[in-house]
Formats: sequence, C-alpha cells, structure tokens
Amino acid sequence: MTDKEKELLYFHPKHYAVKTCTLDSDTITYRAFIGLDYCLYPVAPVQKLNLYVPEDYYDGKTINGFTIDSAPIFVYNTSSGYMQGDSVKPEKDFFTMRNGCFEALRHGYIVAAPGIRGRNSKDKDSFTGKVPAMIVDLKAAIRYLHFNKDRIPGSTNHIITCGTSAGGALSALAAASANHPDYDPYLEEIGAPKASDEVFAACCYCPIHNLEHADSAYEWMFQGETTVSELIYDFDFSHTPLLLKSMSYKEKTMSSHQLHISEQLRQQFIAYLNSLGLEDDSGNPLTLDSAGNGSFKEEIKKFVISSAQNELDTAKYKLSCSHLYSLLPQNTNIKEQDCFTIKDGKIIDMDWFLFIKSIRRNKFAPAFDDLSLSSCENDAFGTTNIPARHFTAFSYENSERESELAETHIVDMINPVHYIGNAQAAKHWWIRHSIHDCATSLAIPVILATLLKNRGYNVNFELPWGLPHCGDYDMDSFFTWADRLCIEENQPEIL
Ligand code: DHB
Repeated sequence: MTDKEKELLYFHPKHYAVKTCTLDSDTITYRAFIGLDYCLYPVAPVQKLNLYVPEDYYDGKTINGFTIDSAPIFVYNTSSGYMQGDSVKPEKDFFTMRNGCFEALRHGYIVAAPGIRGRNSKDKDSFTGKVPAMIVDLKAAIRYLHFNKDRIPGSTNHIITCGTSAGGALSALAAASANHPDYDPYLEEIGAPKASDEVFAACCYCPIHNLEHADSAYEWMFQGETTVSELIYDFDFSHTPLLLKSMSYKEKTMSSHQLHISEQLRQQFIAYLNSLGLEDDSGNPLTLDSAGNGSFKEEIKKFVISSAQNELDTAKYKLSCSHLYSLLPQNTNIKEQDCFTIKDGKIIDMDWFLFIKSIRRNKFAPAFDDLSLSSCENDAFGTTNIPARHFTAFSYENSERESELAETHIVDMINPVHYIGNAQAAKHWWIRHSIHDCATSLAIPVILATLLKNRGYNVNFELPWGLPHCGDYDMDSFFTWADRLCIEENQPEIL
C-alpha cells in the first residue's frame, strides 16, 4: 500500500456533524463521522463506516468512568438474514425498543457502524455480496479502527462486536477468526487497511451460525414433532423504522418425505455432536446415544430448567422486555407449562417432547439447506453469477434442482465454530439465544458456548425464557459485564 493510499484511509476528526436523538425521555448528543471509507476498492455503495462519539467526551467529561481515549468501541452490524446490512443509526428498532446503537452511545461507548455487503448486494448482473463478503467487510471495518488507532477516539484495545441473528453470527465470526489468513486475499481485493482485525469481546444475540450442522441439529431437537408453526409477522408499515405489531402462527404438517429426511439428518447430528468432545463445567463428557439421548440433551434440559426457574423467581425478562415478552403468540407463563413438573415453586423435571411442542418448530426439514434452494442461506452461498447453492452434501445429493455445492473452505469461512481456538480470537463472549427462538436449534448456541468455555474463553451465556427471535435486550446487564472487563484490563498489575 502506497503512502497516498494509506492517506485515503486516514480518519479525519474535523469532518463531522453534531446530532441528537431523543427516545422516550432520554436524549443523546453525539458527533457523527459519516461515510468513512474503510477500504480502497469498494464494490458496493454500502461499504462505508459511520463513527458516532458521545459529544460530552469533547467537553472533557467522563461517562461511566470512560474518557474519550478509554471508551470501548462497539462495532454494531445490522446484517439480517445474511442480507446487506446498512450502517445503523441510534433509533427505535422494529420491536419498539431503543436499538443497541442508542444504548451504547447513552452508556458512553463509541459506536462504529459499518455498512456491509450481503446476499442481496448486486451490481448490474452480478452478485457482489455472497459469502464471505459480509465478514470480509466487517473485518475491513475493524481493521480501519486499528489502522487509525492514534487518530480515532476510543480504545482499540476494547473493540466489541455486536449483532443479532445473521449479525450475531458475524459478530461471533469476527471475534473467533481474528487475523486468520483465510480472509487475507479477500481483504486485499477490496483494499482493506493493513492492520489487525482483533477484537476484545463479542456480543452475540441469537447467532444463526454453524449452518452446515444447523439442519441436523434442528431435526435432533424437534424429533417427533410433525407440525410446523410458520411465523407470521404483522408490521405497521406507516412507521419508520417498521414497527412489529404482533406475531401469529400458521400451522402446517410435515410431509412423509420431510419426515424421512428429518430422521436421516437427526442421525447425522448425533455423530457430529459426539465428534466435538464437549464437556460440561465439571469436565464430564457431553454426548448422545444412538437414540439421540444422553448427557448433551440433559445439559440442554438443565439450561432450560434453570432459565425457566430464574424467570419464575425474578420475572427478569418479563419486566425488562415486556414489549418482547408479549409478542410470542403462545402462552409462556411458566406455571402453566405442561412440560414442567413444579413442586413448592421449584421446577424439578421437564418432559422434553412436551417442551419442544410448546416452543414450536417453525421450519420444515431441512431447515436451512433447502432442497429447492429457496432458503436465505442457500442464497448467501451463491456466487457472483449463481444466485443460490447448497452447502451440505446431504441437500446437494437430495436436491430438487439442478444445483451446485459451495466449496468447503467457503462454508468454513462463515462458521465461527470452525475458528474456535484461533490464537488471536476474542477472550470474552456474551451470548444470548431465547428458548422460544426456534430460528435454529438450541443445540447450536449451546455448542458454541460450550466449545468456547472448554477452550478457556470467558463466556457469559444465557438462554432467556419467553422472548422471540430478537436482540439488543437486557443491555444494561451487558454493559455492566463489559465495563468491568474493560476497566479490569486497564488496572496496573499489583506486584
Ligand atoms: C435470520 C433468521 C433465520 O431464520 C435464518 O435462517 C437466518 C438469519 C436472521 O434473522 O438474520
């Protein structure tokens, strides 16, 4: 990279606008640095970064103990369904909550809001954002922050990624695969800054990841459930941003062919799970027998019971996220769940089948690698000139369309699990996936959290009770966790 090219990637602190945003009774005032170029050779207009800084820092003030130099940098991506994710602004999200960008600025974090390509990014007749473009862009934006370490506000030692669903997967992936050479040719191609893309922590809401094992995990979890409760979202389109008014289910029945497929996939999951060598917190192996039962299933039951018990005791999520809590169409009142045996206020047992019926499967088999190539994941695995491809050998072999199979290295490059153990991965992980979020099997976040814990990472993992597929909730708890980690790391060592 020449000096002239380097200069094109420099952050200029003088180009900004001061903005305010008031939501409910809280007002934030921030400096917005808009449309920063995080790479030299963008292929889509979305590849720009906005940086938002609480204005109080420029008056020399501190916020929650942070200064303009020490504030963590919250890298928030908006990818959803693996589509292009525009740069976020502080505002209400469609669940009528203040989004993570607003909450982070209010809390004194600096927000880096990259726009990133996705499966629907297009240039004339060619697709420009298929896998791995979305993670390449996120990494390039993180590199921009490190590259401009001495020019931007905030601490590049404390970069924290955040996203929800596909965005949560990308948050996890950026954190797990930091500085991995697999991405170098792609980063080079878009002229990303030559710098590290390491991050300190990842905040991941319902990360829809490990896609090549997500089909089998879904069938393992929903074994015996033949009803698919498709989710219908009812939006108020007169609102900007969109407002989600209500959700309902439309029930359908799986065909005998789908049930046959389900059984084959379930067997695959058992083999995969046992190959991982997972252990619980006491070092006991987490495995499954040939019927799909065993300590791994018991572990998930424990997570579910403990989550339901916490909610029964504290009503934490019901109180802190009432707008989300009320969106689920089914009755989530814990005392009225026929899957739990409750004695003297304690949940002492859980019937797995009644449980999985109550949370409602909402995808047909296969849930991700669709045989007719019509899932968003098929679309994500397309190429510049192929709209959609398979990404599992199973669906490719059983395809109902003339089709191609994505290369293994491409499938790996979008899976954070593939990179766990990478020497430069983030040390700290905040992972949330609601029990009632059936966009993927609960096995998928449990595998991610367990593998990370088993490899010695610091993991804060919960499966909240009673929330739909969503993110950016309970952020005060997240900030308390993240602040402590950032502040602890800044303490001088006591000898
Ligand atoms: C998302 C949801 C899905 O059901 C899925 O398969 C992939 C992504 C999302 O909300 O981003």
